[in-house]
Amino acid sequence: MRINGIKYRTIWFENNTVKIIDQTKLPHKFIIKDLKTVSDAINAIKVMEVRGAPLIGATAAYGMVLSIIENNDQSFLKKSAQDLINSRPTAINLKWAVDRMTKKLSGVNSEKILELALNEANEICEEDIKFCENIGLNGLKVIEEIYNKKKDTVNILTHCNAGWLATIDWGTATSPIYHAHQKGIKVHVWVDETRPRNQGANLTSYEFNEEKIPNTVITDNAGGILMQRGQVDMCIVGTDRTLSNGDVCNKVGTYLKALAAKDNNVPFYVALPSSTIDWNIKDYKQIPIEERNSDELSYVEGIDKDNKVTKVRIYPPKSKAMNLAFDITPAKYVSGLITEKGICEASERGLKGLFK
Ligand code: MRU
Repeated sequence: MRINGIKYRTIWFENNTVKIIDQTKLPHKFIIKDLKTVSDAINAIKVMEVRGAPLIGATAAYGMVLSIIENNDQSFLKKSAQDLINSRPTAINLKWAVDRMTKKLSGVNSEKILELALNEANEICEEDIKFCENIGLNGLKVIEEIYNKKKDTVNILTHCNAGWLATIDWGTATSPIYHAHQKGIKVHVWVDETRPRNQGANLTSYEFNEEKIPNTVITDNAGGILMQRGQVDMCIVGTDRTLSNGDVCNKVGTYLKALAAKDNNVPFYVALPSSTIDWNIKDYKQIPIEERNSDELSYVEGIDKDNKVTKVRIYPPKSKAMNLAFDITPAKYVSGLITEKGICEASERGLKGLFK
């Protein structure tokens, strides 16, 4: 995807350093940051300089590479793996990527370990790009179908950022939109602001602007009225963990959008690569839901009239705040799962049909 017309990936490896786009600075500043140690990678995930399920998985994979560069020792690598997994609890891609690296590297004591690690981390990224591209091609069919019936702009609502900034390239929920736009289908996206960190307003809208895709930021609570007015043709969101029964864990607020979509007969799709499927947990109540610092709610950051980024408190210091970062949308509210292998019903039968 492009920033100022220049093609970028969200993460890459160069001169023993992992390069990331610091997402805490977007949309006001575009800063490429260096990660040189495993602690740098852990911190980048924790403070959300990198975020989005597939991208935190890729960062953790490169974190394992950094761990080897720092100290080529199996017990250090084991500890790094655990610390990386613990850096954020909800997105399953993090554990998936670290487990994949561990399987490749455990017990390897030769000099070859660094080459093996780098190849595997690069492979995780290449695979994610291919998967996201295929998600786009598969999801494009749904948008095309609506466009062929409507013969007018397709209005799509999305929540949070499941765009290329959350992956390596293309994004998951955004990939069908990028593909539709490239094919000349008229699309317009309602972008949920996504309080408290505003990933929709700060990141999704930013990347659509860069790709010249018409979009409008709305408050998180506006989706319902827009659906009642017939101004939303479909919803597409991403996910941090989808269970084998089709239940979807995603950014808090997704569930309420799915309920409104159901009540208004608006198709509600979830886009995901297979690395986001948790085949082990059977009950959504077992998914660890991240609770982040309440300061993320009570302070907002923006740019002032002198072009300076400033942070201000928006409610009384005595008010208590709770910051749950994710929620669960039960499978019954999901019209379909858009994966790299095709679109399936949000159910065990649907998922197992695609992923044997
Ligand atoms: O807290 P975040 O910004 O990491 O949450 C991201 C999301 O909820 C995305 O929708 C999800 O990771 C899918 S990314 C393709």
